[in-house]
Amino acid sequence: MNPTEQKGINRTGIKASPANSDAMQQRDHMSIGQDGDEEELAAVRTSYIVDAEVVGSMPQPLDAQVLLDKLGERMAFERTGTRLYDALITKCRACDSGLDLDELQEYRDAEARHFLMLADAITALGGDPTAQTPSADMAGVEAMGLVQVMNDPRATVAQSLHALLLAEMGDKAGWETLIALADEQGHLNLIDDFTQALNEEREHLDQVQAWYEQAIGLATGGVVLTPEQQQNISAP
Ligand SMILES: [Fe+2]
Ligand SMILES: [Fe+2]
Repeated sequence: MNPTEQKGINRTGIKASPANSDAMQQRDHMSIGQDGDEEELAAVRTSYIVDAEVVGSMPQPLDAQVLLDKLGERMAFERTGTRLYDALITKCRACDSGLDLDELQEYRDAEARHFLMLADAITALGGDPTAQTPSADMAGVEAMGLVQVMNDPRATVAQSLHALLLAEMGDKAGWETLIALADEQGHLNLIDDFTQALNEEREHLDQVQAWYEQAIGLATGGVVLTPEQQQNISAP
């Protein structure tokens, strides 16, 4: 079915059936009879939180633990970023999206380069870049939704770009944190490389945001699409 043929058949909203929704609301109101709150849920959560152990532990060396943990986190996220771009490039090849594939490939390669640079930085600090640090573990969990969207064959290029936009926001914030940490802890030799990575992330973020806005029909995007490409990129 052509995606445009599906427009207007979404019946998930309550207004799709006014008569039945009125009856349902009346019945629910009678059977529930009182407003709930989140206190019980919070109590259950709290009981788990107070008994919980932390996620993983840091490997050797014992100095620069916060920096090494955050380097591991960034490394995990940069690896995910590389895979997000790989998946988007495949999607754009499969449908004529109008996005610049060379530029996408350039950004993909930048993420892979950042990953390798972080491995070198961890090694230089005496760490093991193959160890999964606690924050790296959590970063993997955080990115799961983004990877899921990007690899969903039904996701439009616009929806994929929205996932990538969140990743690039995380990239920018992540490098800013790393630069501040390296500076505070006196690892000034890392700052030049990290600043270059941050500048590349800023470019990624600006361009991905422009592509995304173009894809949803805002006029501020950096690429000019044909009407057919616009249809391909934004059709739900
Ligand atoms: Fe990156
Ligand atoms: Fe990036």
